[in-house]
Amino acid sequence: MDSQITSAALAALQELRNSLGASAVLIGADVPERNCNDWSTQPPQAPIAVVRPLDAAGVSQALRACRAVGLPVVPQGGLTGLCGGARPEAGWVALSLERMVGVEEIDAASATMTVRAGTPLEAVQRAADEADFYFALDLGARGSCAIGGNLSTNAGGNRVIRYGMAREMVLGLEVVLADGTVVTNLNKMLKNNAGYDLKQLFIGSEGTLGIITRIVLRLFPKPGCTMSALCVVPDYAAVVRLLGAARRGLGPLLSAFEVMWPDYWQVVTERVGVRSPVEPREGIYVLVEAQGTDEALDGPRFEAWMERLMDDGLLADAAVARSVADTQSFWALRDACAEFFQVLGPHISYDIGLPVKDMDAYVQRCKPALAARIPGCLSVHYGHIGDGNMHLVVWVPGVPLEQQPKAEMDEVIYGLVRELGGTVSAEHGIGTAKKRWLGHARSPAEIALMRTIKAALDPQSLLNPGKVL
Ligand code: LAC
Ligand code: ZN
Repeated sequence: MDSQITSAALAALQELRNSLGASAVLIGADVPERNCNDWSTQPPQAPIAVVRPLDAAGVSQALRACRAVGLPVVPQGGLTGLCGGARPEAGWVALSLERMVGVEEIDAASATMTVRAGTPLEAVQRAADEADFYFALDLGARGSCAIGGNLSTNAGGNRVIRYGMAREMVLGLEVVLADGTVVTNLNKMLKNNAGYDLKQLFIGSEGTLGIITRIVLRLFPKPGCTMSALCVVPDYAAVVRLLGAARRGLGPLLSAFEVMWPDYWQVVTERVGVRSPVEPREGIYVLVEAQGTDEALDGPRFEAWMERLMDDGLLADAAVARSVADTQSFWALRDACAEFFQVLGPHISYDIGLPVKDMDAYVQRCKPALAARIPGCLSVHYGHIGDGNMHLVVWVPGVPLEQQPKAEMDEVIYGLVRELGGTVSAEHGIGTAKKRWLGHARSPAEIALMRTIKAALDPQSLLNPGKVL
């Protein structure tokens, strides 16, 4: 690796180490293995150095040092991204926010938390909980992912239907631009229309426009109670009717609407071995969750709503959670996808978006198209259907990861996405993994505008160059 470092780059990194401290700049053989990759399927790549500043001033210094010698920089948080956004390329510097952790302030009157960008999502959730608030962003990688990374990918997760994506949970940001300028706007107000809403540029742009260092997050009241049901409906038309009924009947309490197609259900119950709360039967499975304020009022209301659906004949079967343990066991069915590697072996995970009405038409076309194009190809389908977001897990059994026919899978999956007017990324971002397919979801005029913004903010193209665009 060292051979790739020019003497000017090495001198700049050593000078940076003198000023930020030895533990803040790890060069060559000292680069830890974890900083060589994210959770995407590409092979690891060591950066020439890892820089780990303690604050925005340190990030600024690092960016100025890298800029002076033309070194590209990849920002890194929890490294749980699935599209390669945090993976270094050869000859790059990784700028890790791992030491920029901790909650700076909770303002109860404004219902905000000011937090450093490297803080793990779970720590943010816990701090909110301890202050008697609720931080609504939640996703499987909560223990490892960092809040800054959640914002730079505009993460979604399980409760978007009620609280929106990461973007909607942010009131203020501090970012460092490619030239080292620190732009601080730790706004706490819900309303602030004084000019452009600059923070939104940095949210979801995957570290290509600036590095997020501090964040003012919106907090919500802690739910007083959680109700959930695991429903089986005969077909997708009934899923759509159930979604409408949940929106009307549960109103603002509706907090999750997760759908599992029969192929997913079969793998989870038969191969992962999660216990089903309902008798096995044909149909599509839906996890409906509502968060209320008062168990004594909202619990019976939820049950009455479910009974009406049963009486109306919408549901083939359903189980209503009677305890926190029940709710957890329902979510275990949805979270079981985390164990797919152990039970299915190597596979490729997809994240796409489609109009809600077209989701099942997509499944019915995609599954046979994959099997026809790739002999032996299997797939399972599930996702946040209330948000128009589906996940597919696709694999050819017994084939090592690097030999899985990903290029053919991509063509089938994203080709159909384009045909149905969907998006190639609903919540996981573009990184490098989906870059080829950006034009399937964005028009040439949109991509040209993205390039204009990139060129304005990072004229030397040193911030995560080649990612997204
Ligand atoms: C999920 C991840 C894959 O929803 O986004 O399970
Ligand atoms: Zn998801």
